[in-house]
Amino acid sequence: MKRLLAILLMISISLTAGAQKFEDLAQTPPMGWNSWNTFETDINEQLVRNIADKFIELGLKDAGYEYIVLDDGWMSRERDSNGNLVADPKKFPNGIKAVVDYVHSKGLKFGLYNCAGGKTCAGYPGSRGHQYQDAKLYASWGVDFLKYDWCDTGNLNARESYITMRDALYEAGRPVLFSICEWGTYQPWEWAGDVGHMWRITGDIINCWDCEVGHGSWASFGIWKVIELRNKEKIRQAAGPGHWNDYDMMEVGNGMTNAEDRSHFAMWNILNSPLMMGNDLREVSKETLKTLTNKEVIAVNKDPLAIPAFRFNNENNVEIWAKPLKNEKWAITFVNRNDTPVDIDFDWRRHQLSDDLSQRSLQVENTTYQLRDLFLHEEVGDTSKNLQTSIGVHDVLMLKLTPKS
Ligand code: GLA
Repeated sequence: MKRLLAILLMISISLTAGAQKFEDLAQTPPMGWNSWNTFETDINEQLVRNIADKFIELGLKDAGYEYIVLDDGWMSRERDSNGNLVADPKKFPNGIKAVVDYVHSKGLKFGLYNCAGGKTCAGYPGSRGHQYQDAKLYASWGVDFLKYDWCDTGNLNARESYITMRDALYEAGRPVLFSICEWGTYQPWEWAGDVGHMWRITGDIINCWDCEVGHGSWASFGIWKVIELRNKEKIRQAAGPGHWNDYDMMEVGNGMTNAEDRSHFAMWNILNSPLMMGNDLREVSKETLKTLTNKEVIAVNKDPLAIPAFRFNNENNVEIWAKPLKNEKWAITFVNRNDTPVDIDFDWRRHQLSDDLSQRSLQVENTTYQLRDLFLHEEVGDTSKNLQTSIGVHDVLMLKLTPKS
């Protein structure tokens, strides 16, 4: 009987071995660039090389950006006679491995896109029925990141489909950050923690402050729509090292005002979203670059406590979001959603700021906190007095609060 049990145990271990994701990746929210928001399927080898060069030249690598991800449109319309995916020979005349090698030579990592369905969202071959074959191919090219979409999936089960691809990647043996993109349709925050490293929580983002643009069967969402659609405690709870809620690739530098871009960036950081740039880095303005490389803001995203912000208050259309940081510090954003500048007179003692999830609260009664403005990079007083300032249209005040010893 004991022998039988031992055999059964061995069988179950060998069946489950390999059934896991790569555990050490994405300990902080992944940072990088993705081609989709600006280029859609109009991508090519030269673009990737240029972007990799810009990561270095513009100080983006230095600020923590690491992954360069080619989204939909990198493939030929058909697989080859062996069923392998083929890079579009016009866009990538030297194949994908050549661009991966170039990206690696800069000390950066490389990502690709595919889809759980028969076809990708732009109609290229999806991985359905080819998961293990595709995973091996990616590993042979040196791919470090896979964004895996959800078009043309019929009645496939999302969790099972993503597990299949996770296992295929694991078996191929090369650590790949697995980015789940089923738009929050099947509540990935409930099951994807041990499947992928990040998961989209909404449909596609679009470069506007608060709009919703319909496309028939689906819609794209402006910044505040994305934030508000899934502002739920159970979603917030699901984030942590190795598994993040993905608020989608950023639209910073894609046409909103600088103030809106700052607010967008501040919110993605305070919410612990991955930070995937989505703009054309070959033509980036000084202001955009300043926003994207703001290391003090990025440090909030990377804080080791890894607790995403919660909405503390919306008073007079000023959004106040707070995030506990390590060593009893806090980050707080005040975002002005009004179409006029707004004066703030915020009495710290009148607002009991506390977080049920992390069981932390701001102890303004017995502690004074130093305030640092993370966009001005200046100390701006402390919590013993009211916070009195004004915030421009759609702009943000982002503060770090540090207890005074
Ligand atoms: C879906 C995804 C987008 C992008 C496109 C590519 O819409 O949500 O982020 O990858 O497909 O076709």
